This record gives sequence, C-alpha cells and structure tokens, in this order.
Amino acid sequence: MLVLTTTEPEETRQLGEKLGSLLKGGEVIFLSGPLGAGKTQLAKGIAAALKVEKEVTSPTFTLINQYRGEKLNFYHMDFYRLQSPAEAAELGLEEYFYDDTGVTVVEWGENIRELWPEEYLMVEIEYKDGGEERTITFHPRGSRYRQVVKGLQEKK
Ligand SMILES: Nc1ncnc2c1ncn2[C@@H]1O[C@H](COP(=O)(O)OP(=O)(O)OP(=O)(O)O)[C@@H](O)[C@H]1O
Ligand SMILES: [Mg+2]
Repeated sequence: MLVLTTTEPEETRQLGEKLGSLLKGGEVIFLSGPLGAGKTQLAKGIAAALKVEKEVTSPTFTLINQYRGEKLNFYHMDFYRLQSPAEAAELGLEEYFYDDTGVTVVEWGENIRELWPEEYLMVEIEYKDGGEERTITFHPRGSRYRQVVKGLQEKK
C-alpha cells in the first residue's frame, strides 16, 4: 500500500502520468472515491502516458470510451449511471480487462464489484469538501500490481 497526497488538479494528473508510464498492457485499474474526487483527472494523466492524443472525457453516459494510444490503447469506463449489474455483464468486460494491447481504467467500479478480475490495482482518492488536497492510496492486488506500486514509490 502506498499513500500520497496532491494539492492541485495538475499534480493529480501528473501522478496519473507517472503511474501510466509504468504500465505494460493488460492492466486493470479501479479508481474509487466520491463525485469530484479527481478520478477523471488521474485517468487523463494515465492516458497521456499511453500517448493517447484525443482529449479524454468522462464516459459517464456511454459507460465505455476507447482510445487508441501510440504506446497502448486506453479503455476508460465509468459505471456511475449503470442501471443494473446485468447491463454490465452484457458489455463483455473481460475482452477489455485481458487485452494486452490496452489498459483499462474504471471509475465507479464498486457498481460492478462481482465482475472484478482476481488481480487489479485499486486507487482510492479522498478529500475534504472545499479543499484541493487529495489523499491517494494505492491498493495493489497481485504481484504484478505490487511491482507497479513499487515502481511508483521509487519514482516519487
Ligand atoms: N488535488 C486535486 N486533484 C484532482 N482534482 C482536484 C484537486 N483539487 C481540486 N480538484 C478539482 O476536483 C475536480 C475533480 O474532478 P474529476 O472529474 O476528476 O472527479 P471524478 O472523481 O472523476 O468525479 P466523478 O465521480 O463525477 O466522475 C476537478 O474540478 C478538479 O479541478
Ligand atoms: Mg469522473
């Protein structure tokens, strides 16, 4: 487990970029935290590291946005508005999760908890109302993700 703090949006984006630079493809990252925590900010940084040129926008209404990156593809999911677990089951999430040519980043993954793979990185973002400080905790599950978090710690 690694705990870091950021004090402005740009710092959270940069942290995402550092995290993204450590990815090799086939990783699944769940971003957890309340509305406005900074999940999409972090996701934008990850996408930048994968060399995604298109602007990354929140997939709240589309559930999944796919981007081609020069380094790796980027699959951005947001299940805030998911109607039912059955709706998610129909999306064929495994196709994304186990695709080595891309990285999957999921916001509001708590709404599809039963569909999570065995190994993943969960990133928890906490904040107090009104402030710009964010406490960001990295919870790796599995040795591959522990390596990623170790790499991030060494980059700091
Ligand atoms: N340290 C910080 N890190 C990230 N965002 C910050 C920080 N301080 C302030 N902010 C602001 O908080 C907001 C975070 O928005 P963002 O869309 O990334 O949140 P989110 O967690 O994706 O929310 P949602 O659940 O609605 O998708 C932005 O308006 C950003 O400018
Ligand atoms: Mg968001």
